[in-house]
Amino acid sequence: MKKILVINGPNINMLGKREPEIYGSQNYSDLLAYIDIAALEAGLKVSCFQSNSEGAIVDEIQNALGIFDGIIINPAAYTHTSIAIPDALKAVNIPAVEVHLSDISKREAYRQISYTSEACCKTIAGKGFEGYREALYFFQKIL
Ligand code: DQA
Repeated sequence: MKKILVINGPNINMLGKREPEIYGSQNYSDLLAYIDIAALEAGLKVSCFQSNSEGAIVDEIQNALGIFDGIIINPAAYTHTSIAIPDALKAVNIPAVEVHLSDISKREAYRQISYTSEACCKTIAGKGFEGYREALYFFQKIL
């Protein structure tokens, strides 16, 4: 069974409380349950990680080498600021899909720049939880 690592960045643990008009009313536990079911249906083994710290996310990507076949990443605010995260993705060379709950292309100008996307083979944005499911099925197809 192919193994997929799902990484969620800062404030994704605050889902349900944070700006529900943008991110919805379901919480982080709901997201984890959603991902588990979607992975089961797709026949993939999934492991989820969340951190508010850029360094911890870089460490998690580095530690994925030789263990995971694919990475699904929502770097949250680090999408628009971090060079270290795409550098880590390029360093391990594990295929990665970038997911955003909201449609960052239609939000503030500073959210329309993603440094992460250049290290990912696909970006899915604006589909809420469904984006993670789509990313899992993308891996089911390519792996
Ligand atoms: C986000 C979009 C980012 O701009 C924001 O900082 C987030 C969440 C999304 O999933 O829509 O925290 O990545």
